[in-house]
Amino acid sequence: MLKEINIAFLGFGTVGTGAYTIISSNGRKLFEKEGISINVKRILVRDVAKKRSVVVDKSLLTDNIDDIINDPEISIVAEFIGGEEPAREYILAALKSKKTVVTANKEVMARHWEELEKTARSTGAGLYYEASVGGGIPIIKVIRESLQANNINEIMGIINGTTNYILTKMSEDGRSFESVLEEAQKLGYAEPDPTFDIEGLDAMFKLSILSTLAFHTRIHIDKIYREGITRITTDDIAFGKELGFSIRLLAIAKKHGQNIEVRVHPTFIPADHPLASVRDAYNAVFIRGDAVGNLMLYGRGAGDLPTGSAIVSDIVNACLHESGHTYSTLSNGDWTPDKILFNDNWETEFFIRMTVKDQPGVLAKIAGIFGKYGVSIASVIQKRRNGDSTPIIFVTHKARELSIDKAIDEIKEESVVIRVENVIRVER
Ligand code: NAP
Ligand code: HSE
Repeated sequence: MLKEINIAFLGFGTVGTGAYTIISSNGRKLFEKEGISINVKRILVRDVAKKRSVVVDKSLLTDNIDDIINDPEISIVAEFIGGEEPAREYILAALKSKKTVVTANKEVMARHWEELEKTARSTGAGLYYEASVGGGIPIIKVIRESLQANNINEIMGIINGTTNYILTKMSEDGRSFESVLEEAQKLGYAEPDPTFDIEGLDAMFKLSILSTLAFHTRIHIDKIYREGITRITTDDIAFGKELGFSIRLLAIAKKHGQNIEVRVHPTFIPADHPLASVRDAYNAVFIRGDAVGNLMLYGRGAGDLPTGSAIVSDIVNACLHESGHTYSTLSNGDWTPDKILFNDNWETEFFIRMTVKDQPGVLAKIAGIFGKYGVSIASVIQKRRNGDSTPIIFVTHKARELSIDKAIDEIKEESVVIRVENVIRVER
């Protein structure tokens, strides 16, 4: 005997149509295995008259959230409208009505986790968010349910498909940033506002969720250093390649004792690094646990069906745990303990590209400034001159972030330095 579950969708764009397609095509077989039959009863959209890419009975569509919140037959609400509001308001309304929520919304989770989880806990409704990080990769479940035995002390990941797609195409095909971004949008990888992808906000929200779960400490987004990919040029990529590097937007969280560093920025990694093989819209998350050692999860980080896969999996799990949902330990009031220190002076290597005047003594002058701030140089490449100027690239040994900032500020003041073109961190 199948158990009938009525659910509602909030949103019917890339993720909504992906989840709907999976339920329509794999539904019967999939849910017979689990003893559950899922019926999508209502779908909230902005514009009910809009032409849809997936055929759906028009009577399911509504632009009124009350049709869903006030329907006692609907027990699960799956949210993929995106953005902060009204998504947060609708999720809260659903939870307060004891409806379990499944969401792909990393922004709402990262910003309002406490409020959502406390509300869910107080009404006994479930709150599931697997699709919020890593698209089809079951990373939340792995951290929450498979790595409890570990102290996780490092996460390093490619967790934004759009920027990985852009950087891959710029690196491999020499294409412009703008044309690849347009393509990523057409493929459904980008956020409704692509600034969130290219400026690193999407990765920042996701890193907040992952590091919060991994470190059992609330990592608010304001603790995360963030830099997007808009300043990366084909010249940076080409010079990096000559040095054996690949460029990626990395999300990094490290814990050294009670010290935590959390950052999202474009990063050079050696071309033979495992994360360098992650191309296009694929994502990968590398985790280091004290018991398990190194672990890497890899898969499609964006798109309709991969993300739909995570959504449908959460819906099935929500049905299976209807009589007792579990919550993260954070909703017990265990917020960031005072003893945790956030470190913004981390140590890494740096790639520094400048244009300088081509004249004697320039190298010595710049090297002297680096030396003054304790920055040791690992290699220097000077390229062919271009008129009176020449490109020059320094790769440093590990140095402190603040030392590099001070050295660069002073180098910029030197009359022989025409421009500091870019400073890109290097991880190995
Ligand atoms: P999308 O294609 O732009 O779809 C958004 C949907 O929400 C549309 O159907 C839209 O209605 C509806 N909507 C937006 N604002 C609304 C409002 N105020 N009231 C009612 N309906 C509203 O977005 P998406 O790419 O599916 O992303 C949705 C969420 O999933 C975001 O949180 C995103 O971060 C997350 N996510 C996306 C992906 C991905 O690969 N795209 C992967 C993982 C997670 P209309 O159709 O009428 O305009
Ligand atoms: N815009 C996001 C990305 C979608 O490009 O990764 C998946 O969260």
